[in-house]
Amino acid sequence: MPDAQDLADLALDIAREAGELARRRRTEGVAIAATKSALADIVTEADREVEALVRRRLEEARPSDGFLGEESGAEPGTSGVTWVVDPIDGTVNYAYGIPHYAVSIAAVEGEPDPQRWTALVGVVLNPATGELFRAARGDGAWLDDRRLAVSTPSAAGALVATGFGYDPATHDGDFARLRRVMPLARDIRRAGAASLDLAYVAAGRLDGYFERGLNPWDHAAGALLVEEAGGVVGGVPGGRPGRDMTIATGPELFPRILDALNT
Ligand code: IPD
Repeated sequence: MPDAQDLADLALDIAREAGELARRRRTEGVAIAATKSALADIVTEADREVEALVRRRLEEARPSDGFLGEESGAEPGTSGVTWVVDPIDGTVNYAYGIPHYAVSIAAVEGEPDPQRWTALVGVVLNPATGELFRAARGDGAWLDDRRLAVSTPSAAGALVATGFGYDPATHDGDFARLRRVMPLARDIRRAGAASLDLAYVAAGRLDGYFERGLNPWDHAAGALLVEEAGGVVGGVPGGRPGRDMTIATGPELFPRILDALNT
């Protein structure tokens, strides 16, 4: 198995190049290329172009690894490592010119299924701010030179982020869950980029985050950031994060959010 630090260095280089392309395309103006699962679920030409760049660079550097990307799908590899990539997480923010979007790149070992994989490396870069969050398994989570640690909520309650699926049929359930979490919260954020929500939990900027309906590329890198910052990431009771539910918090808040979501 390759050294996680080598994979992290590669992910960092590619994320920087991809982030620069995304940022440049944003300044040139962004057009929506297509809608996907629902009218609100959009892809821009930049999403496709950035993913193609990341995929090409990874193939050049590590031709036997697998790939799982938001825009161009999955290709199995033979090395046991798969790269899980969201070229632009927060596409709606990106399309509207809100500087809160990210290139998210993870390397995972084992089956390319969030229920089974072991994440080795996670990199989340916001090209608009230049903030680069990174983690390699066993080496902590970092924002530039600062080692990250999750927060403990204050007596005023937890600052909790969430998100809503694009499919209107899921909204009633999303709002019902939010209502149940509300008593634990000092306030709620819906910032629009799951990878950055997770990176912010790792950095202690948010006390917690939960969302139903995430895809593997939305949480692969960010979940490792949270774990390496001393936090807990899970799904439905006892399970791992995934489409049914992703919860990320410090250890003290986790059971309380889980209880609220499941009552
Ligand atoms: C979306 C964002 C959003 C979350 C959605 C994701 P995309 O990713 O992370 O915050 O609420 O569930 O699909 O479509 O911008 O890559």
